[in-house]
Amino acid sequence: MEQQPQWKVRYVYLDKQFADPDRYWQRAKEVVARGDFTLGKAEQEFETRFAQKFGVQHAIGVGNGTDALFLALKALGVGPGDEVITAPNSFVASAGAIALTGARPAFADVRDDYTIDPASIEQHITPKTKALLPVHLCGNPADMYPILEIAKKHKLFIVEDAAQAASAQYDGKYVGSFASAAGFSFHPQKILNLWGDGGMITTNDGDFAARLRLMRNHGLKNRNEVVFFSGNSRLDTFHAAVASVMFEELDGVVAKRTTWAKLYDELLRPLEPNVHVPNRRLNQASINPVYTTYIVQVKRREQLIEFLKTKGVEALVHYPIPIHLQEAARYLGYTKGDFPVCEKQADEILTLPIHQYLAEQDVRYVCDSIREFYERA
Ligand SMILES: Cc1ncc(COP(=O)(O)O)c(C=O)c1O
Repeated sequence: MEQQPQWKVRYVYLDKQFADPDRYWQRAKEVVARGDFTLGKAEQEFETRFAQKFGVQHAIGVGNGTDALFLALKALGVGPGDEVITAPNSFVASAGAIALTGARPAFADVRDDYTIDPASIEQHITPKTKALLPVHLCGNPADMYPILEIAKKHKLFIVEDAAQAASAQYDGKYVGSFASAAGFSFHPQKILNLWGDGGMITTNDGDFAARLRLMRNHGLKNRNEVVFFSGNSRLDTFHAAVASVMFEELDGVVAKRTTWAKLYDELLRPLEPNVHVPNRRLNQASINPVYTTYIVQVKRREQLIEFLKTKGVEALVHYPIPIHLQEAARYLGYTKGDFPVCEKQADEILTLPIHQYLAEQDVRYVCDSIREFYERA
């Protein structure tokens, strides 16, 4: 049997976050006492607070982040015969949500900061392109101004994939407020996380929001009348009650992670070219990322991961196989070499522990361990 490493700096942190669950239980108990388990008070309050915080007119709670993207695309009329361009380095759900509508996922290459490259988007637009789905990957905002320009020029919808980016800002505005709609995820490993699945759609269009509210709830106008057939993708009221506690803590979580990210940047930049810290300011707009993940590009990654294990440092890869090279994407006809930046990064990216329970010495220890690896070689 493989020996389990003695972890010193772990990637996972949920055991710490929920070590004292009492404050969450308190809100959950209120739901139980009221018995309003579906689309209840806590769910509605969470939607209102979410919309206010992120500067949008409407927030619609749904079952998960994938449904948020899928329902937003579907409500925009995206379907069979259409193409939607997204980033091939994302979590598979970005493409999955497109495919679920019956449309064809298409891709464009990414930049050093892991977000979709507007110049590459232009090259991949066809007469069938109906929408763009830029991903604010790792919590780093996609370059929205040029993307908005492209969408305007070609008359395309935009749905922002903000699953990893609650609280990230682009030019002083929160992501999720730039496009026709945006989808957020509250998966346990997201920066605003729940005890299970959950998601949110944001939009500034009232009619569109009303349609989405019907779509997530069987098309029910009221208890007895159905406007159109649909499914069920409601944000669980119990989860929304838990989320309300997390929401109060979000600014603190973001601030802490930003502190550690800056320290990582400072300690790792001198290790270039063995370790490459992405340039997160390739554009003119000011950027405030949130660090859902902290990803650098490294030489000899697999050996480094093994070495870090011996040091008790848990490092992961998000994501080693680009979406266009997955078996699921075979029918789309892409081949290796189609998106060279994304493919090179897939071989080099490394996700280091970044969470609000780290201490300064943890970050220093991780960086010292990485430096030791390259000095030994
Ligand atoms: C970029 C991205 N898009 C979409 C999703 C889908 O969210 P969910 O897991 O809540 O369905 C995720 C997260 O898992 C994600 O990271």
